[in-house]
Amino acid sequence: IVYNYEKDAVSGTLGTPSPDHIATFGLSGEEAAPVLKKLEKKERVDAIAYIDAEVQQILTVNIVAQTTEGDPENCIMLGAHSDSVAEGPGINDDGSGTISLLEVATQLTKFNVSNCVRFAWWAGEEEGLLGSDYYVQSLSEEENQKIRLFMDYDMMASPNFAYQVYNATNALNPNGSEELRDLYIDWYEQQGLNYTFIPFDGRSDYDGFIRNGIPGGGIATGAEGIKTKREEKVFGGKAGDWYDPCYHQLCDDVGNVNMTAFVVNTKLIAHSVATYAVSLKDFPK
Ligand code: PHE
Ligand code: ZN
Ligand code: ZN
Ligand code: ZN
Repeated sequence: IVYNYEKDAVSGTLGTPSPDHIATFGLSGEEAAPVLKKLEKKERVDAIAYIDAEVQQILTVNIVAQTTEGDPENCIMLGAHSDSVAEGPGINDDGSGTISLLEVATQLTKFNVSNCVRFAWWAGEEEGLLGSDYYVQSLSEEENQKIRLFMDYDMMASPNFAYQVYNATNALNPNGSEELRDLYIDWYEQQGLNYTFIPFDGRSDYDGFIRNGIPGGGIATGAEGIKTKREEKVFGGKAGDWYDPCYHQLCDDVGNVNMTAFVVNTKLIAHSVATYAVSLKDFPK
């Protein structure tokens, strides 16, 4: 299989403009126009460092790639965010999920799919889920219906990791998928690994999907939460410390990756894609 891809221009307004944030990929209104043109023509756009405390608009892009093969009326979708906070490079958050998806997308080219598979690398997650919210809001009802599930992969390799699965029992989020949750926990069990549940608290890119009727879920390995004694027993690492001691800091660099967790979770991502690309028989219409 091969992919079609598109860049989806996203612009958002920062509540309190901070020069540091804007420097990442910021453009003022006037400068944004020619860049938007380039994006429309799918030309390459390099990040431009622009520091101006008065600037309120930022411009950035989602990258979306879809298999050319597979039923385009029935797509499975997965995503990771390609931005980081201004404070650091964001290698675990979320370079990890970003690279996992690239690897799975690459490996998938060797296989056939029955359902279409759509990958997203979201922009502006750290500024308030800008890219994924924009994407879901922009879908027509018809396009919304074609996305049969969304899988979120944010922070796959926290140094003091726990294998976390979004649990689909929150009444506020009726579209958390039980089928997907069970796929994850069955797989961890088959590998002889433990897992814990985390709630859909609206802190990652699944949020726009499940609030707009698309079944969703995902896995994570923990951010600024504190590892419990029980988790230390089953996952190793250190109770009392953050799952990711470098969460949203300068030290979230290439050293801030637990390779065991990264490989395990990348395999699970591959498993989730391999399963639902072949069949969606357990999924609600
Ligand atoms: N999405 C959060 C971030 O990017 C981190 C997070 C992931 C929080 C998963 C809770 C659960 O900073
Ligand atoms: Zn920030
Ligand atoms: Zn983050
Ligand atoms: Zn994140």
